Amino acid sequence: MKLITIPGVIDAHVHLREPGATQKEDMTSGTKAAVSGGVTLVVDMPNNPQPTNSPQALENKVVLAANRIYSDLGFYFAATPEAIPYFTTVKDRVFGYKLYMNHTTGNLIVTDEQAQAIFAKIPEGKTLIVHAEGETMSKAIALAKKFNTKLHIAHVSLASEVHEIKKAKEQGMNITAEVTPHHLFLKSDDVKRLGSYGIMKPPLQTVNDQEVLWEGLRRGIIDIVATDHAPHTIDEKDNGEKPSFGVPGVETMLPLLFTAVAEKRISLETLVTVTNTNPRKIFSIPEQLDTYVEIDASESYVLTNQKVVSKCGWTPFAGMRIKGKIVSIYLRGHKIVDNEKIMIEPTGKLVTPMI
Ligand code: DOR
Ligand code: ZN
Repeated sequence: MKLITIPGVIDAHVHLREPGATQKEDMTSGTKAAVSGGVTLVVDMPNNPQPTNSPQALENKVVLAANRIYSDLGFYFAATPEAIPYFTTVKDRVFGYKLYMNHTTGNLIVTDEQAQAIFAKIPEGKTLIVHAEGETMSKAIALAKKFNTKLHIAHVSLASEVHEIKKAKEQGMNITAEVTPHHLFLKSDDVKRLGSYGIMKPPLQTVNDQEVLWEGLRRGIIDIVATDHAPHTIDEKDNGEKPSFGVPGVETMLPLLFTAVAEKRISLETLVTVTNTNPRKIFSIPEQLDTYVEIDASESYVLTNQKVVSKCGWTPFAGMRIKGKIVSIYLRGHKIVDNEKIMIEPTGKLVTPMI
């Protein structure tokens, strides 16, 4: 046994699917999956069938979460035209606003004019998170410059995006970036093997893109790893014509990243920075006291669909060998996971940004 202790992992990009799509996941199953993988705090996205675009929709999520969550949980607000009047109202209750500038699950995509109106109204000091791929990311950066917006680029996947973010940082912009485990550990070639289970937005890219993502992570150009945990049922994925975009990931993020540490692709220090220190800084997430994960670095195992905790019941990483094994997880001093056994009572809390 070679025990390593790290702070509880934060996943700042998950889709818990409740309300509206609880056949895929719900707050209980999604946060249970989270803690099983060493994630002690998740921030939930607003692209539900009824989007989180009003104070009532936000309050509805708050009510739904009461006494039903295993990890701590916070929310983002939708950055859609109808939501603009509420941006200031909800400012102290959400970790940021999510703007969709490309098409994906939920149909929250906006036009260029709408995007401009949204950038103009983001409250000072709050983060605007954009789904903006490739050239669309350049548009988002230009708008952030114009309106002096604190911008966070979700799921960077291309080498060209990493180069552009590096340039923007060098120019002194207030910009941060995130990468998903699937873009770090899977590539376009894997789609042949995975079929619709390898389809998500943005798509898997080339080995060269992947290398640049890792380098960006090591050099601090990419600030955080977050999963874009986007569970869909096997039926929804197998639906030949229009399989849903997205893959689950919240429970496999730490095992995969710890494997990368064991293989010396990143340092343990970088792992902690990109899964805890940086997400807390970017989104003003409060520190979780006495919350940590113990990993036995001498163990190794293979990921399987059978062991998946998420309601969706599959993982695109099945078959991959993991180095290290989570032994126990503590939330506020209480052991919530003990050798794969998750506590029966959910003890997660709702969190709001530090002011
Ligand atoms: O693949 C994706 N799935 N990308 C997104 O941006 C959204 C997500 C979802 O909600 O299913
Ligand atoms: Zn997402």
